[in-house]
Amino acid sequence: MGSAAAAAFRFLLLPLVIISPYVSMITGTDIPAIGINYGQLGDDLPSPYRSIELIKSMQVTSVKLYDPNPEIMRLLAGSKIYVTVMVPNQEIINIDTNHSLAVKWVQDNVLAYYPATMIRFIMVGNEILSHHRSAEDMQIWNHLVPAMYKIKNILKANNIQNIKVGTPLAMDVLQTTSPPSNATFRSDIALTVMPQLLKFLNGTKSYFFIDAYPYFPWSANPTNASLDYALFKSQTNYTDPGSGLVYTNLLDEMLDSVLFAMTKLGYPDIRLFISETGWPHEGDLDEPGANIYNAAIYNRNLVRKITAKPPIGTPARPGVVIPTFIFSLYDENQKDGPGTERHWGLLHSDGSPIFDIDMTGSRADSEYEALPEGHNNQAYKGKIWCVAARGADMTRLGRELRYACNQGNRTCEALDPGKECYEPVSLIWHASYAFSSYWKQFKSQGATCYFHGLAVQTTRDPGHGSCQFPSVTL
Ligand SMILES: *[C@@H]1O[C@H](CO)[C@@H](O)[C@H](O)[C@H]1NC(C)=O
Ligand SMILES: *[C@@H]1O[C@H](CO)[C@@H](O)[C@H](O)[C@H]1NC(C)=O
Ligand SMILES: *[C@@H]1O[C@H](CO)[C@@H](O)[C@H](O)[C@H]1NC(C)=O
Ligand SMILES: *[C@@H]1O[C@H](CO)[C@@H](O)[C@H](O)[C@H]1NC(C)=O
Ligand SMILES: *[C@@H]1O[C@H](CO)[C@@H](O)[C@H](O)[C@H]1NC(C)=O
Ligand SMILES: *[C@@H]1O[C@H](CO)[C@@H](O)[C@H](O)[C@H]1NC(C)=O
Repeated sequence: MGSAAAAAFRFLLLPLVIISPYVSMITGTDIPAIGINYGQLGDDLPSPYRSIELIKSMQVTSVKLYDPNPEIMRLLAGSKIYVTVMVPNQEIINIDTNHSLAVKWVQDNVLAYYPATMIRFIMVGNEILSHHRSAEDMQIWNHLVPAMYKIKNILKANNIQNIKVGTPLAMDVLQTTSPPSNATFRSDIALTVMPQLLKFLNGTKSYFFIDAYPYFPWSANPTNASLDYALFKSQTNYTDPGSGLVYTNLLDEMLDSVLFAMTKLGYPDIRLFISETGWPHEGDLDEPGANIYNAAIYNRNLVRKITAKPPIGTPARPGVVIPTFIFSLYDENQKDGPGTERHWGLLHSDGSPIFDIDMTGSRADSEYEALPEGHNNQAYKGKIWCVAARGADMTRLGRELRYACNQGNRTCEALDPGKECYEPVSLIWHASYAFSSYWKQFKSQGATCYFHGLAVQTTRDPGHGSCQFPSVTL
């Protein structure tokens, strides 16, 4: 471990002799309350071996993987770390429709490592029911629950009882979330795949896995008061008029929304598991509140809440542990989308901590060093442009320029010879114009100012004289 990392985790290492890493186990099961998502979409990440050492040094004893990476699965053997492994989305249809393939998948990716690698959960797909998926993904919906039964049955046939099967879903499986008592599942799944899924989860005593990020609803409508509510430090409470339950934080509202929606379909008892949550420590101009201060406060308060003894639970289901995987171990520089997507990590790619956090939940706020206050909590208001990043590789920039100009209507017309933005004839200038023009047309449809990392947002008008750059107004 680097010296910075060693310094930050020094408090964690001290009590090792007296506090066993298993203190935060759930009564009656052996699943630690706090785990971490180990995503690997980065080209600069530490090796699997070092990553596992880092996870251990953080006293984290539960890890979720996004695929059954053979090297990681092997290295986790004998590590005393509980493992949750994922069936990639594109394997689901095959697993449902081809029995020998399903058997082989379980053999190669689970049984080959079990029990030395302490696999406890198999996640079938990732956010498979989100409605922004492609038509191809939507075909998978019909195969999701049958594939889960197949895997469960193969495990049973091998006499394995303590591996549960689930599927992590995003909050957009809900039609409404506020107030929680009014929540229902989305109409396109509420009467089809959702009842099948709930029947499976209830019947196999598995969990409803939910990716729940208070950051997203907060950042869509950011105010100081609601920031405190999202960061678990609100001074005011919210009473759900339907249920009369009193809420003190946004995460509880999100979790209870899921509980109320399940209850309406006749399944009031399925346990919740937070398959992802976290807070980004950096982001683009149009992404308020993504800073180290908020990320540290959110994650510290979350860990304390989840590990509290006796357990806190939520207003609708008090007193239960809700096991949680924090997203994420590392910043992942190969994720596309807005700037926040690449900044959910607890650790930099060199393994040093981005902020100090005690993953056992036993450290009080006063025991942490002061954090720099977050200064971009208010949404930026005004015009922004999307321009070529400094130092961008010219070959790749040329490719992205051509891509942008080929989308939309007359996106790059102003760059034609003789037109108002033709001069100066430089790749950076033309790409900047093309990115801004593209972004203005497609931002409302979810397009981001990213272009494989070659673009950045700016508040400074790049135009000159007669050449006006198209802008996005926030
Ligand atoms: C089913 O999977 C097996 C094992 O991967 C493969 O050999 C076989 O061709 C598959 N069958 C069909 C019909 O795709
Ligand atoms: C709950 O949902 C119903 C129907 O969607 C709506 O009419 C009602 O106003 C909602 N209640 C609250 C308190 O928002
Ligand atoms: C859910 O599981 C419980 C306990 O196994 C069972 O009693 C209950 O009937 C199940 N609910 C439904 C709707 O099947
Ligand atoms: C919100 O908080 C920031 C930073 O603490 C502060 O500068 C700003 O004045 C606050 N805004 C409101 C409306 O309270
Ligand atoms: C909010 O709820 C908490 C927990 O139920 C309670 O301790 C606190 O007094 C409440 N605060 C307000 C302002 O109602
Ligand atoms: C491009 O033009 C067509 C036809 O005028 C229109 O239907 C479409 O919405 C336009 N696309 C964009 C991105 O503006």
